[in-house]
Amino acid sequence: MTNFDSTTGSSGQVRFFNPGPVWVRPQVMQALTGPMLSHRSQAFMDLYGRILEKLPKVFRTARTAHTLATSATGVWESALVSCVEGPVLSLGNGAFSEKWGEMSQRLGLETDLLKVEWGKPISPDDVKKKLAGKKYAAVTVVHSETSTGVLNDLAAIAKVVRENSDALVFADAVTSVAGTKVETDAWGLDVVLTGSQKAFALPPGLALFAMSERTLAAAKKKKFRGLYLDLVDIDAFAQKKQTPTTPCLPLLYALDVQLDHILAEGIENRWARHEAMRLAIAEWAAKNGFRIFAEKGAESPTVTSMIPPAGVNAEELNKALKAAKWTTGSGYGKLKATNVRIGHMGDVDVASVKNYLKAHEEAITGLRAKAAVLA
Ligand SMILES: Cc1ncc(COP(=O)(O)O)c(C=O)c1O
Repeated sequence: MTNFDSTTGSSGQVRFFNPGPVWVRPQVMQALTGPMLSHRSQAFMDLYGRILEKLPKVFRTARTAHTLATSATGVWESALVSCVEGPVLSLGNGAFSEKWGEMSQRLGLETDLLKVEWGKPISPDDVKKKLAGKKYAAVTVVHSETSTGVLNDLAAIAKVVRENSDALVFADAVTSVAGTKVETDAWGLDVVLTGSQKAFALPPGLALFAMSERTLAAAKKKKFRGLYLDLVDIDAFAQKKQTPTTPCLPLLYALDVQLDHILAEGIENRWARHEAMRLAIAEWAAKNGFRIFAEKGAESPTVTSMIPPAGVNAEELNKALKAAKWTTGSGYGKLKATNVRIGHMGDVDVASVKNYLKAHEEAITGLRAKAAVLA
C-alpha cells in the first residue's frame, strides 16, 4: 500500500469495512514485533507509563485509563463482578446490549431488562420511569449498537441515572470511543469500555477502559470480586505502571504507537472524520434507495446498517461485494437476511468509503443484469 494519508494512512485504498476487527495501518502492525520484556522491568513500566499518560486523553478522563488482556466483553464482566451485587437495570436495543443483560442474569444478579425495538434508541424518559420503581446498583447501556447502527444518547441517559438514582453507569463504548464523542468525566460515566479492534484501529485482543472513583469505591466494598477481572487489583497495579497478570505485550507496543497517531490527528478531528463518513453513506443511501435502519437522528457515526432497495436481496448483495474482494459486514443476527452493514471506523477515510459505495452500485448493476438474463 502506498501514498499514505498523513492523518489516517488509508488514502482511499481500504477495502475492509468489517465492523470490527477493522483495517489496521501498517505502522501499527509493525509495532507488534517489539522485543519481549519482563512485565516487571523498568522498560515495561516506561512503555506502560507512556500508555497511561495518553490513553485518558481519548477517554476524556482526568483519572487513569486501563488495559486488560481480554476482548471488550471481559470488561462487561469485570464491571459486574467487581462492583455489583444487584439489582441491575440493563438497557437493550440490539444484540450486544441484550447480551450484556444476559451476562448479568448468568452471573446470578437480579436483572431487569428494558428492551426497545431494534433500530430505535433508548429513551432517557423510559429509563427514568424504571428508576422510579426500584433501587438499582448499576445500569448497563451500549452507546453505539453495532448490530443495528443506532447511537444511544449516552450523555442524556447517564444524566437521568445520576439525577434519579445512585446506580453506577456502565457504558459500552465499543464502537464509539475514539470514533465519536464520549466524555467519561463530563457525562458522569462510571465504567466506559472498548476493544482494541474497533475505533482505536488496533488488532483484536485488548480491552481498554476507564472507571470513576465511585466505581472503585463500590468495588472496594464488595467482598467477592474474583481475581482476573478485579478492578481493584487492576487499578492498584496501574498506579505502579504495571498490570496484575502478564500483559499482551505486542498489543501494548501497537497501542503506544497508535495513541500517537490518534492524538496527532486530534480526538475531535477524529470524531469529525467519522461523522463525515456517516454523512457520505447517508447521502449516498438516500440517492440510491437504501433505507438506513437506525431511526433518524440516532445514526451511529461508526457503523451503518441499511436495507437495500426493493428487488435487491441483501444476502446476494453481500455475496457480490465479497466476490469483488471487499470485506463487509452482513446484517447482524435477526437482520442477516434483510440488511447490509458497513463498519466505517478507525483509520478509514471518506475516500475509501466512497469507493466502497461505488462498489455497491456496481454489484447491484451486476445482480440486476443477472436477474434480467434469468427472467
Ligand atoms: C457494541 C459491542 N459491544 C460488545 C462487543 C463485544 O466485543 P468483543 O468481541 O471484543 O468482546 C461488540 C463486538 O462487536 C460490540 O460491537
